[in-house]
Amino acid sequence: MRVLLIGSGGREHALAWKMTQSDRLEKLFVAPGNGGTQSIAENVALDVTNHAAVVDFAVRERIDLVVVGPEVPLVAGIADDLRAAGLAVFGPSKVAAQLEGSKSFTKALCDEMGIPTAAYARFDALAPALDYLDQQGAPIVIKADGLAAGKGVTVAETLEQAREAVRDCFSGTFGAAGAEVVIEECLVGEEASLFAICDGEHTVLLPAAQDHKRAFDNDKGPNTGGMGAYAPAPVMSDALIERAYREIVAPAIKGMAARGTPFSGVLFTGLMITKDGPKLIEFNTRFGDPECQVLMMMLESDLLDILEGTALGTLSGVSPRWKRGFALTVVLAANGYPGSYDKNTVIEGADAIDSDTVKIFHAGTVRNGDTLLANGGRVLNVTALGESVSEARSRAYAAVKAVDWPDGFCRSDIGWRAL
Ligand code: AMP
Ligand code: GLY
Repeated sequence: MRVLLIGSGGREHALAWKMTQSDRLEKLFVAPGNGGTQSIAENVALDVTNHAAVVDFAVRERIDLVVVGPEVPLVAGIADDLRAAGLAVFGPSKVAAQLEGSKSFTKALCDEMGIPTAAYARFDALAPALDYLDQQGAPIVIKADGLAAGKGVTVAETLEQAREAVRDCFSGTFGAAGAEVVIEECLVGEEASLFAICDGEHTVLLPAAQDHKRAFDNDKGPNTGGMGAYAPAPVMSDALIERAYREIVAPAIKGMAARGTPFSGVLFTGLMITKDGPKLIEFNTRFGDPECQVLMMMLESDLLDILEGTALGTLSGVSPRWKRGFALTVVLAANGYPGSYDKNTVIEGADAIDSDTVKIFHAGTVRNGDTLLANGGRVLNVTALGESVSEARSRAYAAVKAVDWPDGFCRSDIGWRAL
């Protein structure tokens, strides 16, 4: 198969690495890719916001499957444009990607299908939103409706914080994404993520994972894209997985199909395990980053069979096998992330780390000859397998020590909930 993978993060390096394990892979392009994908595939400097250019490239290169990693191109409708040109695509349509691209779209589907989620109200003007806050009190959660790179959510402990968050949204901090604001009940419990691959009709569940969103140890500091993850998450018992599937994932997939806009791709369900059972925090319509890194490390089966089955609507014949044990990944980020940070700092020692149990997936890296440079916020994902979470964690942190990058930092407590 000739494959084009879109994206440049740790998620895409992990997907690319797993695809290269397949005997079926003939050629892999990554657009734009990073310093890690460059070593195992061909990076192409395509502008992925230019859909016509991506379609032209895929047609010219006789691509059999296009895999879209990140949400921004999906919400912009890249899958529709590729499909219109006759290409097979792993990734949802523009309408189905609204499950991630619009919080009010998802809330409406929850109402329609009876999916348990936080009680909410939506507003497109400041005054009624502020009145509603006064009625509800704190703690309360404020969300910009659209995509805001993980920054559009405020869990407000006080009414003053809540008011400020609402004012921020309406004053344009998140651009068009904040023109509508969703205010919702603050859910209490432990968070977990469930991943379901779906071809519009058939669904295959992947192991559940847990992420660490805050920048620093003990869940302190600002929210980030994710500082580490592990899978399978012990908090998600088989019974909880079954319940979350039955009450949340399956109705969402069924509802989208019934509307004539079936969901095809990977549905990433962010859950709060409350005392009343699992409730939906949010859907994403792509793999999590860094959750994907641990899932790819755990996957025994051929990834291309799964992605292709999804794209072609033949997933009913696919049942992935998983390795025993656990995988855990530690993110190395540039000092200052998620705020401002230096670029083009030198990383040494990373290329020497590669074994059956430990891999480094790159995110914000670039190669300059033999030198590896950091050029992003999240930079490396040091990922390990183990019989237990603690063995995977020890292996990952031993490898972290072997990376020489004075300009980076990581959390030292990834996996704490599972230990
Ligand atoms: P998001 O950027 O949408 O993933 O949200 C960021 C984080 O905000 C989530 O991982 C949760 O920790 C938190 N969050 C979002 N919605 C709620 C809610 N209704 N109740 C409590 N926490 C929430
Ligand atoms: N790690 C969380 C996300 O990908 O949204």
